[in-house]
Amino acid sequence: MRDFVFHAPTEICFGREQVSHLAELSAFGSRALLVYGGGSIKRNGIYDDVMGVLAGAGIEVEELAGVEPNPRIATVRRGVALCRERGVDMVLAVGGGSAIDCSKAIAAGVPYEGDPWDLVMDHSLVKAALPVACVVTLAATGSEMNGNAVISNPDIPAKLAVKSPLLCPRIAILDPTYTLTVPRRQTAAGVADMMSHTFENYFTLEPACDVQRRMAEGLLRTMIKYGPIALAHPDDYDARANLMWAATHAINGIVSQGSAPAWSCHPIEHELSAYYDITHGEGLAVVTPVWMEHVLGVDTVVPFAEYGRNVWGLVGADDMAVAHEAIACTRRFLFQDLGIAPNLRGLGIPDESHFGDMADHMWWRTEKSFVPLSRDDVVAILHDAF
Ligand code: NZQ
Ligand code: ZN
Repeated sequence: MRDFVFHAPTEICFGREQVSHLAELSAFGSRALLVYGGGSIKRNGIYDDVMGVLAGAGIEVEELAGVEPNPRIATVRRGVALCRERGVDMVLAVGGGSAIDCSKAIAAGVPYEGDPWDLVMDHSLVKAALPVACVVTLAATGSEMNGNAVISNPDIPAKLAVKSPLLCPRIAILDPTYTLTVPRRQTAAGVADMMSHTFENYFTLEPACDVQRRMAEGLLRTMIKYGPIALAHPDDYDARANLMWAATHAINGIVSQGSAPAWSCHPIEHELSAYYDITHGEGLAVVTPVWMEHVLGVDTVVPFAEYGRNVWGLVGADDMAVAHEAIACTRRFLFQDLGIAPNLRGLGIPDESHFGDMADHMWWRTEKSFVPLSRDDVVAILHDAF
């Protein structure tokens, strides 16, 4: 296990009616930018809850509505301008990963003199940020407890992450009842996304990371148990609560610190979203089992067999047979139990014409990955996923 510093600065307020903790935001000032998406929070009452608490705490609110899934840099620019114009002290996201990521990028953009896209291209330019807080309405990205913000720029096209500890939310409200209205398709995509975060952190060749590996297996088992329950019974509190907390831990550093993972499927998926604006979790669901088959070999069979035995309860002495069966279980779960389309064509991608460009543009160097991927590997994975 490698050396690491683990610092988790986010105050997590988990459970029913925890929204009252937003009153603590008055410590950061008296004017907040409220950032949200296409209006689900107005339909399900979360908006009214939030506004009630902020009013009670004497916090005035400016609003940035209409953040897109796969938030755009243009929306970030609008938010930055609004914050400057109105003298905003803090940014409060109410929504899923898109609203939260957009808020983080706005928070970093306000004190920065240039264009916010510069910050995405060069994280070292993030020297300061407004305080960020969030109310999570969808269990998926774990953005509530990390310093990452994924922003899309359709002009390039590119979908990239700005990363800074300054962007970790100060307060995150995780009320599972706020996720009861998440539609079936987004619930499934969220489970696929949180599973992918866990896989990306699990499949490393770093030895003796037993703590991280056993925790990751526990998270995966929890997701596999509760994903189908949340689909069958959307208002099952325990299912929503377990998915919410599992999603947070999959990407808050607890299962990655010390094991030095370098991610493989996310960089591929981000190219797909950049070109075709697909739903992040669905793209990952399609890419992940193909990637697993692609990288499975004599050097990698042990962690895959361990995954099969410890997550899926597979038995059998032949590691390679267990590893293949584990990948088959993964496919069945994602495409049958969660009902996600099993290939890129099913996600609406019309042809393979951009796959070469995507492999060329992939921002995330995969040389340090579990299995380094060349340009040809990426094109082959995309071809098989299609
Ligand atoms: O926009 P509204 O009307 O709110 O509807 C949203 C949106 O249509 C809806 N929704 C959310 N909560 C709901 C709800 N509908 C009903 N009831 C609720 N309670 O769900 C749709 C998707 O929302 P979105 O925020 O886009 O989903 P998600 O949380 O999956 O976020 C995806 C974004 O996060 C990025 C992705 O790339 C993508 O841009 N990621 C961020 C990460 C991070 N910051 O660490 C890591 C991830 O790997 C990921 O890349
Ligand atoms: Zn993800």
